[in-house]
Amino acid sequence: MPPQPCRPEPALSFVNEVPEHGPAIEALLNGAFGPGRFAKVSERVREFAAFAPELSFCALEGERLVGVVRMWRVMAGDQPIVFLGPLAVDEDARKHGLGAELVERACAAAEAAGEAAVLLVGDLPFFQRVGFEEASDVILPSPVDPRRVLVRTVDPARKLNGRVIAR
Ligand SMILES: CC(C)(COP(=O)(O)OP(=O)(O)OC[C@H]1O[C@@H](n2cnc3c(N)ncnc32)[C@H](O)[C@@H]1OP(=O)(O)O)[C@@H](O)C(=O)NCCC(=O)NCCS
Repeated sequence: MPPQPCRPEPALSFVNEVPEHGPAIEALLNGAFGPGRFAKVSERVREFAAFAPELSFCALEGERLVGVVRMWRVMAGDQPIVFLGPLAVDEDARKHGLGAELVERACAAAEAAGEAAVLLVGDLPFFQRVGFEEASDVILPSPVDPRRVLVRTVDPARKLNGRVIAR
């Protein structure tokens, strides 16, 4: 058999989310989370949170969307913070560090913008790899397993607490 021509992989790039990414993001999120997507407690937060596109990233392989992380401005008690989610990576692109890279980029952007912390609802075994820990004193708008409420603070001495509300 003649040698197969070697086709280079399209380069991976990271860009802030713009409205044109919307349809591809919807398809990725529907695939990643399924029909239960809108029943999550995180959705209750996003109903009143302010979307922050400048802190939200898309990972593109060439023109194809392969990952997304969205960020939302809220308050936790008296502290202005950012709520992270959803985070999703295309099934074919998983386990190469892309999920962690998206979280790192979003958190770095939040920190550079002067936000005190990044909060999310998720699995500690994944998110502790990227600096998150339990935030059991934070109160979300509907009941949730407190072990899934996670925070990455800029100043670890300032413990996050209080109710998550709109800014
Ligand atoms: C979670 C997700 C974004 C990770 O993307 P990714 O590009 O594979 O992430 P990384 O390559 O940085 O990390 C992969 C590692 O995290 C682990 N991991 C993924 N999801 C996990 C979870 N929910 N709990 C614990 N570990 C998890 C993988 O098993 C893998 O472990 P390994 O390195 O020991 O093989 C991706 O699996 C996804 O889109 N899942 C569906 C949507 C979802 O659950 N989003 C998170 C919502 S809180």
